[in-house]
Amino acid sequence: MGARTLLPLPSGNLAAIPAMLLIAMSRATMTSAGVCGNNMATYYVQPDWLAQRAIHPKDETIRVAIEQLIERYDIKNRNILSLGSGFAYEERHLVELGKNRMTAIDNNKDIEPILRKAPTGEMIYIIGDARKKLPGSFDVLYVSSLLPDEVRRHQIASNPSWLDRKAKHGFGIDPDQWPIWRGPFHRIIMRHVRALNRGGLLIVQSYAYSLDPHFHKHYLSALRLQLRLHRMVLLEIHSFVQ
Ligand SMILES: C[S@@+](CC[C@H](N)C(=O)[O-])C[C@H]1O[C@@H](n2cnc3c(N)ncnc32)[C@H](O)[C@@H]1O
Repeated sequence: MGARTLLPLPSGNLAAIPAMLLIAMSRATMTSAGVCGNNMATYYVQPDWLAQRAIHPKDETIRVAIEQLIERYDIKNRNILSLGSGFAYEERHLVELGKNRMTAIDNNKDIEPILRKAPTGEMIYIIGDARKKLPGSFDVLYVSSLLPDEVRRHQIASNPSWLDRKAKHGFGIDPDQWPIWRGPFHRIIMRHVRALNRGGLLIVQSYAYSLDPHFHKHYLSALRLQLRLHRMVLLEIHSFVQ
């Protein structure tokens, strides 16, 4: 997990999912775990319960992609925290294929009635705000299109703030370019990074408002900078188009 090189995934199944950007990183050092948040309803459910209630049309593609991730990064028997996990389409496969322990969190209250009916199982599903700190530490922080993260990235890229516009103008930077001083990931994500164990992984997928890192010349530098501030290194980034 110490490599810094950018490598392609061994086969192309992820490419079947449109406009997905996958980023995987390793954490260099350890800091303390978060403390418990409150007002969160916690359920212990079978990992496939939600996914079976609304079957994803690309479930097989997702399964194969998750299988590749598990093999590539040896994500087996690990503690995983997933933010904004929705119907746990990816998370269930992480549990089932990798025998991982999963804590998933989402603030979508519509999911709660479905969880209430779920048979007891090994996946911990929390209905609550991912902004809150959670107890424990994790080996993998998994984020697949967390809404606040996607919206923020989209706004920075397409509708920059007055301050960003002024600064770009002042530094002679193309107004359409990603500003290097803006970390690509939302602080919600970076807060939970603190609960990662030494050598742990942060995996972020963006498919709602993906941006093209080939166009945004400073995007990778901004990402590396943000990670370095959290004592992490970028392992890989993949950009997929349909
Ligand atoms: C685009 S969906 C992604 C769902 C799932 N990860 C997937 O890939 O199918 C975005 C998810 O982020 C969740 N979300 C938005 N804000 C959140 C917050 N503050 N805390 C927890 N979840 C949040 C939404 O409820 C929604 O399920």
